Order: sequence, then C-alpha cells, then structure tokens
Amino acid sequence: MNLLGIETSCDETAIAIVKDGTHELAHCLSSQIKWHKQFGGVVPELASRMHVEKIHVLLNQVLDQAQLTLADIDGIAVTQGPGLEGSLLVGMAMAKALATILEKPLVGVHHVLAHVYSAYLNDRAPVFPYIAAIVSGGHTELILLRDHRHFERIGKTRDDAAGEAFDKVARLLGLPYPGGPEIEKAGLSGSETRFKLPLPLISEGFDFSFSGLKTAVLHLVQTLQSEGPLPVADIAASFQYTVGEILGRKTLKACQAHGISQVVFCGGVSANQSLRRQISTLLSHAGIETFVPPIRLSTDNASMIAARGYFQFQDFGANDPSSLLVRPSWPLCS
Ligand code: KG4
Ligand code: ZN
Repeated sequence: MNLLGIETSCDETAIAIVKDGTHELAHCLSSQIKWHKQFGGVVPELASRMHVEKIHVLLNQVLDQAQLTLADIDGIAVTQGPGLEGSLLVGMAMAKALATILEKPLVGVHHVLAHVYSAYLNDRAPVFPYIAAIVSGGHTELILLRDHRHFERIGKTRDDAAGEAFDKVARLLGLPYPGGPEIEKAGLSGSETRFKLPLPLISEGFDFSFSGLKTAVLHLVQTLQSEGPLPVADIAASFQYTVGEILGRKTLKACQAHGISQVVFCGGVSANQSLRRQISTLLSHAGIETFVPPIRLSTDNASMIAARGYFQFQDFGANDPSSLLVRPSWPLCS
C-alpha cells in the first residue's frame, strides 16, 4: 500500500510516499526556518502562507522522485494535530481534496505519536511492547506502547521540553536557532565533564524538568563571562551530556519498572549523535536495545506521518473526509 504522507503542522512543509508503513519511496521537505529566524520564532500567518506556496510544488516533486503518478497512490495520511491551526489546515485541505478526487482512504495522524513511527523507517524496527522517548522542541514524553492501538504516557516534562532547553541554552551561548544542532557542533571539541550541572528530578518518578538545568547554565554563563572569553565548547558539551544523563537514566528506570527491553529514541533531539551513543550505551549495559530513526527523519518529516498512517489504517480504517477536522491542541494521551 503506497501512502502519501502530508506534514504541515509547524514550519516545515513535507510530503512523502511510504510503502507498507516501512519503506520510504520518496520524501520532499521545504523548511521555512530562514524566514522565521529574522522574527526570532515561528510567525503563524507567514507559516500558513508558505505552506500554501510550497505544497503543490512538493507534491509534484515527490511523485517525480518516486517515479509514480497519483494513480499509484493508495491512500492519504495527514497531520491532524497538534500544531498551528492555519498551517494544519493547508495540509488537511490538500489531503481531503486528493482523497476525494482519487477516491482513496484518508487518515488523520497525531504528529507526536508519528515521531515514534520514524523508527519503523530504519533497518531494524522495534517489537511491542516498548517504551518511546519522544524528545522534541515541544515534547519530552515517555510512552509505553503495547501495540499500535494501546499506549499510555508514563512520563513527561513538567516545564521546558528538552529541545526547547537546547534552543534556550544555545541563545545563552550566542549560537543561532535552532540550537540543538549548534550545541552538538560546538560540543564536539568540548569537555563533557568540565562543568557539573544539576540533574533535576533524577530520583523522583518518570517526569522530567529542564528549566532548572537551563537556569543553572544561565548562572554559569554569567559567572564565566566576568572572567574572560566564554568556554562555549565545554559548556555545550557539559550541558548536552547532562541532558543525556537525565534522558537515559529516566528511560532506564521506566524500562525496569515496566519490564521493557526495547526503547525508541525519537523526535528532533534524537538527531544528536552524541546523545544517541550516550543513551544507547547506558541502556545496553542493562540489556535494553535502543532503536532510532534515520537521522534526517528525527526532525519533523512526512514519512513518519505516512508510516503511522499505514498502521493506523490497518487497525482502525479510514476517516471520513467530510468530518475530519484539524486538532491544534490534540493531547497525545488524555
Ligand atoms: O521534532 P522536531 O523537529 O520538531 C518538533 O516537533 O518540536 O524537534 C525540533 C527540536 C528543536 O528544539 C531542535 O533544537 C532540536 O529538536 N534538535 C536537536 C538536534 N537537531 C534538532 N537537539 C539536539 N541535537 C540535535 N542535533
Ligand atoms: Zn515534531
């Protein structure tokens, strides 16, 4: 089954074609980051307009790349939420139009849950039950998935998401947005152990807190600034290492509490290669296997939407195009 995936929840327009939920045939993405950067964050009105400008171009590109025509598409999966309302509506309108004209099934997908399915697009896929650590700019969640239908949240951030902490710490260090990749680059030549930073909530349950860590970096920067040039590489490496310790140790504790031996590490922050190594090493010492997406599918993309859409369609069937609405504040677990 060739599913066309459409993602327009925030500042990336993306369309993909995925066969049977696991084989990516083509993926085209247009990022708006450089346009929003000048305003210091995503401008919703601009985001919607840019999705409208790009979405048809990407549809033609993705079909060309896969050497397919619309007649070869067996269904449409679209991000239904959460996200920016105006942006979601652009993808939804395109998805409904295609599903209606082609007379093919339409599936509305939860963006955050879809991040887990980016791991099905790699060489090795996880087997249920497993725990997914979904770590992105807006979410830090530990989800226990028993199968494609049954999943529950066992941990979440109480304040900032981990990706948000990367972005804020990058700003403190004078690095551009988005901060995650910049911190990773800067940290390559730094010492992970030079600065000992706090591990908030480390011995309390499965919830996360990253705002105290960010504040600790702020105080460190203020102190060091008065002493001379800022040791950006060492601060970046120490911060990143601390995030890895928090994510790894909490995930390990959750696995042990629930008798789980497989973990999916996904979401934008999982693009970080040092964190991938650190977390999978920590878990492997306890006999737990870590699964990750291909790096380019860690951040927002449409292939994960098509992948989740496929398994959702198998289990729940299609949605009715005449009643499917976008859900900008759709909770992952209620
Ligand atoms: O999943 P994503 O693309 O969008 C959301 O749904 O939020 O995640 C974006 C987040 C940003 O905060 C970005 O700084 C972070 O992922 N990120 C990274 C890396 N690449 C992206 N964080 C750490 N290291 C990276 N290499
Ligand atoms: Zn995302």
